[in-house]
Amino acid sequence: MQEKQTILSAKGLCKSFAHNGGQVHILSGMDLDIYQGDFTVIMGASGSGKSTLLYALSGMDRATAGSVSYKNGDLVTMSEKQLTALRRSDFGFIFQQMHLVSNLTLRENITVPGYLNRKRTAAETDRRADELLEQMGLSHIKDHLPAQCSGGEQQRCAVARAIIHEPELLFADEPTGALNKRNTTEVLDLLTALNAAGQSILMVTHDARAALRASRIIYISDGKAVGELTLAPYTAESEKHREAQVSAWLTAMEW
Ligand SMILES: Nc1ncnc2c1ncn2[C@@H]1O[C@H](COP(=O)(O)OP(=O)(O)O)[C@@H](O)[C@H]1O
Ligand SMILES: [Mg+2]
Repeated sequence: MQEKQTILSAKGLCKSFAHNGGQVHILSGMDLDIYQGDFTVIMGASGSGKSTLLYALSGMDRATAGSVSYKNGDLVTMSEKQLTALRRSDFGFIFQQMHLVSNLTLRENITVPGYLNRKRTAAETDRRADELLEQMGLSHIKDHLPAQCSGGEQQRCAVARAIIHEPELLFADEPTGALNKRNTTEVLDLLTALNAAGQSILMVTHDARAALRASRIIYISDGKAVGELTLAPYTAESEKHREAQVSAWLTAMEW
């Protein structure tokens, strides 16, 4: 098997916040490599710093110390302008709240940010948006406003918007956190299919069901990565076996 390429590498990552006149340390010297093609899931208790870590790894926020190497740069010391450009060109983002624009249709929510990308013409963006709408089963409602759609449909639209520019890495922060069981399955199936087609994904979640989709799970506690589990590619048939495997591991991690 071919050696996996490292896409993102964090070393000695620290993040502290000012609190009550002192400092609280959320990330305290975290070392972490993320590999191309993986569906990496970061788990940890609520408040353990998962979102903080995702923000630091994606350049949405800056770590207090340490480095995040990506291509030839370091996200911790890069200028604000470089960071913004990098986020726009190389990264995609989905969140618990979909943040769709309420007065734009699903299709417009996908195409409008796509038009900002200089790599493609508007016509190419339109074509890709239509392909994504088809792939995500949204073609029949592409002219609906977000409020007319289910949570699962809205989140699938948010995924399409996040990948319209073909990001190297798709970041997801609790993307199923606001969804019911059926919509959760829909969105997880979509992420699984994208990953099977080659999309690298880094998702943080406290939902053990969402974590089952991972090819690699990293557990964080006390500001450090304390364990990891590598899994075979997800299939629906393997779910039961996986559930037992992941649940035993999470217990060992004191989840
Ligand atoms: N901007 C901030 N200022 C102060 N404290 C923060 C800030 N952001 C997060 N925290 C604190 O950092 C800890 C980790 O938060 P977070 O990364 O959101 O955890 P998780 O996503 O694992 O639930 C929490 O105790 C939270 O209150
Ligand atoms: Mg969080």
